[in-house]
Parts: sequence; C-alpha cells; structure tokens
Amino acid sequence: MSEASATTTAPAGTRPRDPAAHDTPWWQRDDLTYREGRLHLGTADLDALARKVETPAYVLRAPRVVDNLTRLGRALDGTGLGYRIYYAIKANRTPQLLSHLAAQGMCGADICSPNELMHTLASGFREEDISFTAGSLSPADMAVLARFDGININLDSLTALRRIGELCPGREVGIRINPDVGIGYTGNDLLQYSGEEATKFGIYLDRLPEAIEIARTAGLKITRIHFHAGSGYLDRELIQFARVLEASLAFVDQLPDLTEVNIGGGLGLPHKADDKPLDLDRWASAVAAAYGGRGLSVAVEPGDFLVKDAGVLLTRVTYSERRKDVEFLGLDAGFNLAMEPAFYGLPCEPVAAVPRPGAPRSYTVAGNVNEALDKWAEDHAMPPPEEGDVIALINAGGYAASMRSDHCMRGDVREVLLLD
Ligand SMILES: Cc1ncc(COP(=O)(O)O)c(C=O)c1O
Repeated sequence: MSEASATTTAPAGTRPRDPAAHDTPWWQRDDLTYREGRLHLGTADLDALARKVETPAYVLRAPRVVDNLTRLGRALDGTGLGYRIYYAIKANRTPQLLSHLAAQGMCGADICSPNELMHTLASGFREEDISFTAGSLSPADMAVLARFDGININLDSLTALRRIGELCPGREVGIRINPDVGIGYTGNDLLQYSGEEATKFGIYLDRLPEAIEIARTAGLKITRIHFHAGSGYLDRELIQFARVLEASLAFVDQLPDLTEVNIGGGLGLPHKADDKPLDLDRWASAVAAAYGGRGLSVAVEPGDFLVKDAGVLLTRVTYSERRKDVEFLGLDAGFNLAMEPAFYGLPCEPVAAVPRPGAPRSYTVAGNVNEALDKWAEDHAMPPPEEGDVIALINAGGYAASMRSDHCMRGDVREVLLLD
C-alpha cells in the first residue's frame, strides 16, 4: 500500500486539520472528503453514521452512482452511436439501489441467473430493459428464461444456442463471442476473461459458422453479439481495449442481421495512488472508431465503474498490537465482507473517519476471520488510531456486499443507502 495515501494529522494536542488542505489523499473527491477533520460521504459524517448503525456496515451513496452513469452517458453521446447502458447488478444488488435506478430510468440491468432475473423484475425493471448473459445454464435455467420473451438473451455456447432454439424457435437472440483478446486491471491475469489460453466465456471465431447454422435451423435471428473481455481496465489498457474491439469485427462481418454490439463491462476505477482514472472520452473514441458507420448501436454493461467508488465498508478498530516487528491493527470486519482485496489484489484502502493527531505509522490491517489471508492492507501508513475508532474501507461499493460469504458466521451485515 502506498505511503502517498496516508492521511496527515494535526500536531499533538490540537484539533485534527483537514487532510485535504495539506496532503490530498489520492481517493479524495468532492463527495468523499474530510470536512473539519471528519470524513464525509456526501452529506453523511461517516464516524457519526457508524456509531448510529453499528459496524460493520456497507454504506452506498446513490447520487454518486447516478453521477457515474451520467459521465458514462455523456461520453457515449459523443460517439454519435445509438447506445444502451445496462447496470451489471452482480456488482451490487442491494434492493434499494436497484429500485432507485429503475425509477431513474437511466439504465437497464445486466443479469446472469434466473434469481437475478426475478430480483431485477421485482425492483421495477421491465423485461425489455434487461440483458441476460451467463454460462453453463441448466435445463431448468433455460426453462425459466424461455418464459420471458421480452428480455435480451445472449447465449454463450453452441449448446445454449441449440437449446433456446428448441424452446423458442424464431426468437431474436444475441451470442456471446470470445474475441480471443483479453483486457483487465494491470498485473492481474485473473481479471482477464479472454486471451492466450482458452477460457469458458463465449463462442470463438472458428465455431461461428456452426452457431450460424444452429440459428438458421431453428429460425433464430442473431441480432446482437456480446463480449466481456475482462474487468478493471484503466487508461493504460486503452490500446488493448481497441484490440479487443477490432477482434470483434471479424464476427460482425459474418452476421448480416446484427443491430447491436454489447461490449460488456470491465471499465475500471483507481484502486491505488498511482492508478490513473479511465479517460472516458478516449474510451468512447475507441468505441466510435470500431463501430461507427456500420449501422450498429452499442450496449455497455458496467458494474464496478458505476458503484464501486460510491460505497464504503464502515468498520471499527478492535486492537492495535505489535507482533514481532509488525504493528497489527484489527478491524471488526473480515475479508468475507469484501473479497476482491484477497482474491484479486484490488484493495479497499483503510481510511480513518476522524484521523487522530500523531505522525503516521505503518500497519498491517487485519480482519476478524480465521484465515491467514484475512488482511486489508500491509505496510499501510496511517495516524495511530485507538480501539473503537471508525475506519472506512473505501471502494467497497462493488463486489463487496454482493460477493460476501457467511464464513465464521460473520456475513450478516447492515446495508445503508444514502440518498444525498
Ligand atoms: C458478462 C459480464 N458483464 C458485465 C460484467 C461487469 O463487469 P465490471 O463490474 O467489471 O464492469 C461482468 C463481470 O463479471 C460480466 O461477466
């Protein structure tokens, strides 16, 4: 963890100063900032909120999600292409958030299981605003999907295409393709869904003729291709992004009924001090360059980009204690509540809600689950907190609550949605 992310503090005996006024933390923005030494998300004072709702608690700020949607929409406006945004609800399926987004009408929903379908419909999304893409579907899954003829289904294998042909002959469908080129947050191959080795996602170019033949036999019309080549990509990956789009054109050229290309999600956001945010205008230019002038519209289905930086996980310090030459700081929340730091090395940086005076010290920040990998940060510089202090784990709005487990029976955690 970078030293540059340390918060600065007041000289001993004085009131904490605004870190923003001195050494701006990399993650700080207008709606996630210190005011009079207290961390705020929107108008919420996170220390005060933690003491009201108890910790651990997921807190998500809906207006930030809407801002992220607006920024993405503006960039897509600039492409001159028709477009749709589907929010990938696997990133955060909190019912209050989904109802809020359905009411705003700014996006549809990307889903990947029958239960997500029911959940999304119950939250107020209409069938035609739902895009379904998933793999390894059972006959029972397919039977559920077949009952909803308004949803936009993308079949990710020849087998699934054949089965939908049997259940719904004549239907307009999408196919998930595998562009054979991957992309993802630098340094983490686990986030790449395509690339050198064969992956389980989608139909490769060499089998496209078979897909076309299956569709022809069942009277299915392939009007859409879909791909999701990986997650977490940023500015430095945009050249690779253009390669992924380029690879998709070999499929486009063979499908005369195509009206839409769904380019998946994967848009990333900074997780560390040296991550540069994705330049949305450059990103949109790449999309326009690939698909402009072909009579196609695009769909995009981001998860993380919309919700991750809108949420924090509020925790409290349980102890501070030296073991050998390492100072450990314990929190009342374990990796089971936000798995990405342990699984993918995408940190949720610990940030003091009310930093105490004192020179920063270096900590290993650990959780309360009995697993050795249960660490939030190592060599993490922060002003020495005391037992009971509130620590916000930032970037916990995506793939935290939705992926949590009940390991050690520590998964039952309150969720709070902020509306301002
Ligand atoms: C098919 C598909 N679409 C969209 C997403 C959302 O990805 P992200 O949250 O990285 O934008 C995923 C994530 O796994 C996915 O598998």
